[in-house]
Amino acid sequence: MAPCASLLLPVFVILATLPIIQSVPTFFPRPSYDQSLAKQPKASKPKIPYKTHYFPQVLDHFTFQPKSSKIFYQKYLVNSNYWHRGAPIFVYTGNEGDIEWFAANTGFLLDIAPKFRALLVFIEHRFYGESMPFGNNSYKSAETLGYLNSQQALADFALLIRSLKHNLSSEASPVVVFGGSYGGMLAAWFRLKYPHIAIGALASSAPILQFDDITPWSSFYDAVSQDFKEASLNCYEVIKGSWAELEALSAQKEGLAELSRTFRACQLCL
Ligand SMILES: *[C@@H]1O[C@H](CO)[C@@H](O)[C@H](O)[C@H]1NC(C)=O
Ligand SMILES: *[C@@H]1O[C@H](CO)[C@@H](O)[C@H](O)[C@H]1NC(C)=O
Repeated sequence: MAPCASLLLPVFVILATLPIIQSVPTFFPRPSYDQSLAKQPKASKPKIPYKTHYFPQVLDHFTFQPKSSKIFYQKYLVNSNYWHRGAPIFVYTGNEGDIEWFAANTGFLLDIAPKFRALLVFIEHRFYGESMPFGNNSYKSAETLGYLNSQQALADFALLIRSLKHNLSSEASPVVVFGGSYGGMLAAWFRLKYPHIAIGALASSAPILQFDDITPWSSFYDAVSQDFKEASLNCYEVIKGSWAELEALSAQKEGLAELSRTFRACQLCL
């Protein structure tokens, strides 16, 4: 879809100071809520120049309930090809998906690593990819899902980074965090919340200000509409006109089911 292409252009924002931005989110692939639905053959995984590690991570960083001390294994990837001790550590703050996918699609860090002699680290977000605190049951109930939130994810990054620096005897290495979309928000928030751990953050296409009372609720839709308008006014009008049809059909008996069939919506939406 050509009209959407401009939405995907990354907006790079250095967050040493937090400037006002008006960016739109990028579209990362469907998160792997249900591993069995994804049906991605293992062989199709991209070849990436990273070594896989697993860190025994704390389930709950903020309470003292019995479950809080439970450990789960958090996946992270490391490339040390360019690394010299004392040089920076570039950390990708993983977002909603398999971390290998993000590593395969973030060539920027590999591009700049030689210049900075940097260590590259990609940390998987809890509840995605292989980093499932409750295995296959992670998404089964509110009791387990309550541990899936950005505060816990940021604390995961903080703990893992400190442990890694300790293990590498590289406490003095500056850490810069990188991320895109929701991961860019995480990078920015990480710099704000843990300024003693990261000296800077690069947030790409991160809708940091896309919240009620900060940015008008319609701003994302306005940007998408504008994009279609610029490509073709007719295209925009046809799409806009279709909403009334969809609403009329959905108000009829069996209308929603018919729409689901027509658009081949996933089972969960029926
Ligand atoms: C989780 O589900 C996958 C796919 O259905 C299965 O292969 C695996 O054995 C399950 N793991 C556990 C611990 O039950
Ligand atoms: C650092 O070493 C400890 C002890 O061997 C290990 O448990 C931990 O997972 C390591 N940290 C990282 C980030 O790999």
